[in-house]
Amino acid sequence: MSYETILVEQKGGVTLITLNRPKALNALNSTVLAELIDAFAKFEADKSQGCAVLTGSGDKAFAAGADIKEMVEKPGADFYAEDFFAGWTTQLVKSTRKPWIAAVNGFALGGGCELAMMADFIIASETAKFGQPEIRLAVAPGMGGTQRLTRAIGKAKAMDMCLTGRNMDAEEAERSGLVSRVVPADKLLEEALKAAEQIAGMPPLAAMMNKEMVNIAFETTLDTGLLMERRMFQILTATEDKTEGMTAFVEKRPGVWKGK
Ligand code: HXC
Repeated sequence: MSYETILVEQKGGVTLITLNRPKALNALNSTVLAELIDAFAKFEADKSQGCAVLTGSGDKAFAAGADIKEMVEKPGADFYAEDFFAGWTTQLVKSTRKPWIAAVNGFALGGGCELAMMADFIIASETAKFGQPEIRLAVAPGMGGTQRLTRAIGKAKAMDMCLTGRNMDAEEAERSGLVSRVVPADKLLEEALKAAEQIAGMPPLAAMMNKEMVNIAFETTLDTGLLMERRMFQILTATEDKTEGMTAFVEKRPGVWKGK
C-alpha cells in the first residue's frame, strides 16, 4: 500500500510515522485511518522493529481533530451503520501490542488529542495544545476523549476540558498527567526517537508484557490486576531472555535479546 496522508520511515529498530496533511493541520479522515492501520500492522509484524513514534508534519499541529469537512454532510444514520470511528480502537489500538509513543507538536485537538492518548505515552513540545472542542460542534468526543482523558487526568479536569472545549497547554498537560515529558519544540523528535530507541533495545517480550500489564490496570480490579501481574511476571521468568538478562547483569555486560 502506498500512502497519501502519512510518511513512514524506519530508523534502526524504530518506526517513525508522520501524519502528513499539514494544510489541513493533519486532520484525521478515513484515508488517514486506513493508512495508519496498515502502517501499524506492518510495524507490528516486522521483527526488526521494537517501538514506533507517531508525530505530525509541520510545526503547527499534531492533528487538529477528525476531519470536519468529511463529517459535515454525512447523514447521521451512516455514522451508526458504519460504526464510524470504531477502527481507531478495534484495529489500531487493540492490534498494536508493541509500544509506541506520540510526539505532539502544536495542536492535538478532538480526534488529535484522542489519537495521542491511544499511544502508550505522550511526549509534548512546549508549544503543544490539547483539547476536546467537540462540544462546540454540537457533538462529543467519539474516539476516546471522554474515557481515556478521564482515566488520564481525572474527572475534574476531563469535565472542564469536554464541557468548555478549552485548550490545555503543555505545562498543564504534564502537571495533569496527560503527558510524560515536555521538551523544547526543536528537540521533540530527537527526544521521542531517543526514548523509542531505548524501548526498542529492551527485551521485546518484556516490553510487550509491560505495556499489557499497565493497560490491564485500567480494565480490572486491583486484586485481579495484581494476580495477572504476578502470572505475567512468572511467564517472563520462563523466557530465554530472562536467563540472558540476569546472567548479563551478573557478568556486568549488556544483554543480547532473542525475543524468546
Ligand atoms: C478539517 C481542518 C480541521 C479539522 C483545521 N482544518 N482543523 N479541516 N477538519 N478538524 C483546516 C482548516 O479548515 C483550514 O483549511 C486549515 O486546516 C488551517 O486551519 P485554520 O483554522 O485556518 O488555522 P488557525 O486559524 O491557525 O486555527 C487553528 C485551529 C482551528 C484552532 C486548530 O483550525 C480549529 O479550531 N480547528 C478545528 C478543531 C476542532 O474542532 N477539532 C475537533 C474536530 S471533531 P482551509 O482549507 O480553510 O485553509 C473531532 C471528533 C468529532 O475530532 C467526533 C464526532 C462524532
